[in-house]
Amino acid sequence: MGTAILGTGAYLPERVVSNHDLARIVDTNDEWIRTRTGINTRRIGGQGDETYLLAARAAAQALLMANISAAEIDLIVVATISSHMLMPSCACFVQKELGASRAFAFDINAACSGFVYALDLADKYILADPSKKILVIGAEALSSRTNWEDRNTCILFGDGAGAVVLGHVDGDRGVIGARLFSDGNLWSLLHMHTAPSCNPALLQSASPGAHIVMEGREVFKYAVKAMREAILVLLEQEQVGLEAVKLVIPHQANIRILNNLVERLGIGAEKVFINVQKYGNTSAASIPIALDEANRASMIQPGDIVLLCSFGGGFTWGAALIRW
Ligand SMILES: CC(C)(COP(=O)(O)OP(=O)(O)OC[C@H]1O[C@@H](n2cnc3c(N)ncnc32)[C@H](O)[C@@H]1OP(=O)(O)O)[C@@H](O)C(=O)NCCC(=O)NCCS
Repeated sequence: MGTAILGTGAYLPERVVSNHDLARIVDTNDEWIRTRTGINTRRIGGQGDETYLLAARAAAQALLMANISAAEIDLIVVATISSHMLMPSCACFVQKELGASRAFAFDINAACSGFVYALDLADKYILADPSKKILVIGAEALSSRTNWEDRNTCILFGDGAGAVVLGHVDGDRGVIGARLFSDGNLWSLLHMHTAPSCNPALLQSASPGAHIVMEGREVFKYAVKAMREAILVLLEQEQVGLEAVKLVIPHQANIRILNNLVERLGIGAEKVFINVQKYGNTSAASIPIALDEANRASMIQPGDIVLLCSFGGGFTWGAALIRW
């Protein structure tokens, strides 16, 4: 018995922004972006693509696949760092949008690791009460938190949402286990300030602005090392060999991080799902979007072991194993 994924869904805004489009607003070019990041395009939302709306559309797809109505959902957890409001949570807006009247709802902030954190949390709720049905969503409108004058960061990020419906099942399907990590000492390497304070005693003369700031090279180094370690610790904990894993679905940060990870783990590249070329880095949304794509492409079959791994601001990182 375990916590199984009963349905997956994703939603990407329609507008496709190419590297050539970005070269018109910052000093960059298609070749640099493709070779350094593997990204060709990303989706950028507009009016009507607020984070909760992306989330609700992805959730509706997941509910449809699970054949579960919104009214049957007990809990909605949204992993996000780019909700359009600080209060109420994105999850409360999703609840309203779906009409999931019986659910309680809240957000979690673990940056790009948010989905893996939320999945682990939901697994534990369901272990405590197997009757619970839970929506876990990763949703981001990072275009609203991007400094469009900073070529180091604006080329990396995109908007989108992915969702899963979780519920208890008999048999050996479900979440096998997860390991999560954080190191707040390294916060400054990848961070985002809030809007300027309204408290006169806390006002700063030069507001840093509510956008993503990053030390790219440092983040790169830690990301590869941390994800590799999280994976190895989890496999050891669950006594699962890497060769038993059918598909690895990593956070889609950039292709060089993923290639490096694959090389250091010594696994075949064909075992790793990659769609960063299409959507860029969508933070907490990247794993559930990829999971939905892999699922709909029938790349995962019942009984297959799927490995998720993530790394993000905080720093936060982790890995999860699921038997499909
Ligand atoms: C951001 C990243 C792609 C930059 O690649 P890099 O090889 O480290 O590049 P650097 O930052 O050292 O910059 C190299 C040069 O390219 C330039 N450059 C930076 N961004 C550029 C851009 N968009 N277009 C063209 N040139 C650019 C730099 O100014 C620098 O020029 P210089 O040598 O004249 O000083 C890379 O560090 C990275 O992938 N980091 C991880 C980012 C990430 O995934 N974050 C999220 C994790 S969840």
